[in-house]
Amino acid sequence: MRTQVGIIGAGPAGLLLSHLLHLQGIDSVVLESRSREQIESTIRAGVLEPGTVDLLAEAGLGARMKAEGTVHDGFELAFGGKRRRVDLVELTGKAITVYAQHEVLKDLVAARCAADGALYFNVSGTTIDGIDSDAPSIRFQHSGAEHTLHCDFVIGCDGSQGVSRAAIPEALRQDYEKVFPFGWFGILVEAPPSSDELVYAHHDRGFALVSTRSSTVQRMYFQCDPKDSVNAWSDDRIWAEMHTRVDTEDQQVIEGRIFQKNIVGMRSFVSTKMQHGRLYLTGDAAHIVPPTGAKGLNLAVSDVRVLTAALQEFYRSGREHLLEAYSETALRRIWRAEHFSYWMTRMMHRLDGVSPFEQQLQIAELEHVTTSRSALTALAENYVGTSAV
Ligand code: PHB
Repeated sequence: MRTQVGIIGAGPAGLLLSHLLHLQGIDSVVLESRSREQIESTIRAGVLEPGTVDLLAEAGLGARMKAEGTVHDGFELAFGGKRRRVDLVELTGKAITVYAQHEVLKDLVAARCAADGALYFNVSGTTIDGIDSDAPSIRFQHSGAEHTLHCDFVIGCDGSQGVSRAAIPEALRQDYEKVFPFGWFGILVEAPPSSDELVYAHHDRGFALVSTRSSTVQRMYFQCDPKDSVNAWSDDRIWAEMHTRVDTEDQQVIEGRIFQKNIVGMRSFVSTKMQHGRLYLTGDAAHIVPPTGAKGLNLAVSDVRVLTAALQEFYRSGREHLLEAYSETALRRIWRAEHFSYWMTRMMHRLDGVSPFEQQLQIAELEHVTTSRSALTALAENYVGTSAV
């Protein structure tokens, strides 16, 4: 088998890259270890920055997103029994769109299939060879047969646990990591929206977030022990916690049938460089952000945007300067988002083990951020993604 660009991983990064390359007349093959059903049903976050929305729309992927996604002009920060609105449109001129990642994924799979794109699911035993040469290859098994995919470039879009990052020799990599001592308990609920906009709540008992998926399905989270078990949480116990952390005198969380529960750990991670020889990493394969800033998917999309332009330049003119600069270019935006996500996480969560002095500083920061126009603007710019390089 031969293609120009071999892509490992059919998450948003891998599929979007394949689709954008196709629009430029560049051939690719996507290999995925999971099944189509698995990737299309994996529940992830749902906030799309305007830049992400524009790119998806320009690539012809906007129809369902525009019809089924919801545009939010702002969100709310709740603490000390009150809610304060962050008016994104007034502060930045931009809004965000809430549209679940697995819906973006379905649109991408459909677009690749409609274009007869080569997309292999249920692939196993993937190994990468020859990235130090200009003729790298990927070996894998599919439907009981061994295959070798010869290509010009290998792109690792296979997430933090994938094989791609490990193909860059450890001695050449610098990994940076911060593991948070808390996690998020996430639920999907059959109920009308509790609020017109997302609510990020800081409370003595811990953080909580009210998000949405549609007029009938809501997504909510609350800070928990990452080692806790989903089974330890009855529906009653979950609702008691959500009410305590989020309700104000005149606004209450609306209960409904909980049909999905999960716990996710929280960490920040960056692996540099994001390239070695003919191997390039995108999205979670190279970096992780805690979900508080809603940046994960948006960062993957911006990596893909940078890499597509670099590959396009290479195939158009043979020049490699954009490819050589890929890691450095992508990392500017990534570190900005890492800082923002870390900052939001530290400001919004209950931080066990910090001194009472530091707890008071956290409240002082929330007061400042929600009352100073310049501080609010900085928050809003980061949230919509316009402060990025
Ligand atoms: C979500 O809707 O899943 C969501 C929204 C905002 C976040 C994280 C997750 O910051």
